[in-house]
Amino acid sequence: MAVKYTLLKECPHTGARAGILHTPHGDIETPIFMPVGTLATVKTMEPKDLKEIGAQIILSNTYHLYLRPGHQLVKKAGGLHKFMNWDRPILTDSGGFQVFSLGDLRKITEEGVEFRSHLDGSKHFFTPEKVMEIQNALGSDIIMAFDECIPYPATYEYAKNSLERTTRWLKRCIAAHENPHSQALFGIIQGGMYLDLRTQSAEEILALDLPGYAVGGLSVGEPKEEMYRVLEHTVPMMPKDKPRYLMGVGSDDALLEGVYRGIDMFDCVLPTRIARNGTAMTSHGRVVVRNAAYSEDFTPLDQNCNCYVCQNFTRAYIRHLVKCNEILGLKLISYHNLYYLLDFMRKIRQSILDGNFPQYYKEKIKLINEGRE
Ligand code: GUN
Ligand code: ZN
Repeated sequence: MAVKYTLLKECPHTGARAGILHTPHGDIETPIFMPVGTLATVKTMEPKDLKEIGAQIILSNTYHLYLRPGHQLVKKAGGLHKFMNWDRPILTDSGGFQVFSLGDLRKITEEGVEFRSHLDGSKHFFTPEKVMEIQNALGSDIIMAFDECIPYPATYEYAKNSLERTTRWLKRCIAAHENPHSQALFGIIQGGMYLDLRTQSAEEILALDLPGYAVGGLSVGEPKEEMYRVLEHTVPMMPKDKPRYLMGVGSDDALLEGVYRGIDMFDCVLPTRIARNGTAMTSHGRVVVRNAAYSEDFTPLDQNCNCYVCQNFTRAYIRHLVKCNEILGLKLISYHNLYYLLDFMRKIRQSILDGNFPQYYKEKIKLINEGRE
C-alpha cells in the first residue's frame, strides 16, 4: 500500500490521537492541516515559503487541473510534484465536490456527471474511471474517490440514493486505479445529516479495505453542532489503524473539535481565502485588518505568533498594503494565516503526545470563543 498510518498516542478521555502517516514523498505528523493549492499553487506562497511555515502536505484539485493546464500536460512535466516544484506529499481531491457545486451547469447519471466548464462553458464528462485517469496522471500521493457531496439540507431519499451511488462509484474507482502501490486511494463516507445513512455508508465504504477514509458532505452550510453530531456518530466506526480525513474544514474551533472526535487530517481554503479579503486568523479570533480601526495599529497581526510576518510587520503596514491592492499585503496575511493554523495543529499534536489534550482543548476553546464575542 502506498501509505501507512502509525498510531503513536491516544487521548484516554477524548477521541484525539497523534500519529504518523508514511507516504511516498515523506512522513506527515498527524493531526495535520493541509493548505489548499487548487491550481498547483497555494495562492501567493512559494514552495520555500510553505516549507518555512512547516507545511508537510498540500491539497490540489482534479477538476481545476484537468481544465487548466490539463492532466496530460502535468504528466508530461513529470507529474504534479515536479511541475510545481513541491517534493513533499500531495493529496488531490476528486472533483466530486467542485463538479457538484456547479449547480445548473451539471447533470448526474449513474455513469457519471456531465458538466460545463466554469471557464468557457465547454462540455465535459467525469466518470469514476476518468477521475482516476486524471489523478493517476497527476501522480499525487493520496487520491480521493469520485463521490457525490450532497447539499444541505437534503431529503432522506436523496441522501440514501446518493450514498449508494457513491459506494458503486468507489468500486469503479478501485477497479480503474492503475497505481495502488504509489498512490493511496481514500474512500469517502457520505449520508448527509442522517445517522443511519452514515452507518450504512461507513459499512459499505469500510468493507472495501482502503488505505484511508474521509468523512465528506460536512461543512456544507449545516450548523456546527450538526457536524459534530455526525462526527461523533461516524468516526468511532472508522478503523484505528487508518488515517481519518474530514474534508473542507479549516476554522480553528472546528479543527479542535474535529481532533477531539478522532480526526487526523483537514483541509480548507478558509485561511488563504479570507487572507485575500484582508482578514487575519489570530489566537483571539479574526482581525479584519483592512478596517480603519487598524490604520495606526503598530502591533503585529497576532501578538502571540512567532511567524516571520508577525516578527517583522505591523497591522498598520499590512492594512496600507491591502488598501492599495498591493500583492505583498495578500501574501503576508496568507503566510500568517497558514502559519497560525499549522502552528495550532502542532500544539494540538504536542498536547496529545504530552497527555494533556483535554486541558489544552478547554483553554483554547475558551480563548477562541472569547475572541468571537
Ligand atoms: N470537499 C469538501 N467536502 C467534500 C466531499 O464531500 N467530497 C469531496 N470529494 N470533496 C469535498
Ligand atoms: Zn503570524
